[in-house]
Amino acid sequence: MLTPPAVKKMKGRKKIVMLTAYEYSTAAMLEKAGVDIILVGDSLGMVFAGYKDTLPVTVEDIIYHTKAVRRGAQNTMIIADMPFMSYQAGNASAVKNAGKILKETGCSAVKIEGGAEIKAKVRAVVNAGIPVMGHIGLQPQSTRKDGGYPVKGATAEEADALVKSALALEKAGVFAIVAEKVVFKTAAEITKAVKVPVIGIGSGPFCDGQVLVTQDILGCFTDFTPKFVKKYADTGNSALAAVRRFRADVSKGKFPGRKNYF
Ligand code: KIV
Repeated sequence: MLTPPAVKKMKGRKKIVMLTAYEYSTAAMLEKAGVDIILVGDSLGMVFAGYKDTLPVTVEDIIYHTKAVRRGAQNTMIIADMPFMSYQAGNASAVKNAGKILKETGCSAVKIEGGAEIKAKVRAVVNAGIPVMGHIGLQPQSTRKDGGYPVKGATAEEADALVKSALALEKAGVFAIVAEKVVFKTAAEITKAVKVPVIGIGSGPFCDGQVLVTQDILGCFTDFTPKFVKKYADTGNSALAAVRRFRADVSKGKFPGRKNYF
């Protein structure tokens, strides 16, 4: 299983592959496929629970889902998201909640959204012996402040602030950083500026690795596909067709067939 120091060493050597999972069977499939890191993202609030953003997700939700993911993937690095208001209120609550997540789930590390403004909290968590992955650029927990999900790092001022944030997080002790929806030239600048790996989502090819939501690459949703997603399957439509066939078979008395019962 990868460790935080091993992830750091991958920079410049091997692209890092990270995907999300929220439950046992997806986690088992990701481990079988050989992904480097499984992220139990707070995106589970939207993708699994159907909330309109990630803000309602609780520490207990993250713990429940991370435990299920760990049972499915016992040999893969698992990172659990720190949900909204589990660290924002202060260093002590950040350490307490990160420690609870690490202790109760068997995950390898936590991920915390935020830039230079949260460096003291990151340092406090790292000093408690808990590995931290940073998350800069678009921060979905700030969607109500931002009024949506804007692209980041398009102006020289924003690019400069993002590079400074990445450097501040590196100094605070993160072992890797997610850069979400950052324009590719700025993401490349960030990747060059820090010694820890930068894992991009919608941030272009010059990052040290890529992360996406598994349901997105599997095409589970048919209504909307973000620009940064590439669909590798059409699960939504094929599952819908399968359920319709099952419904028709049951309605017509074609299921169960003789081999399906005792
Ligand atoms: O919550 C999540 O799934 C994430 C990734 C999309 C990076 O933070």
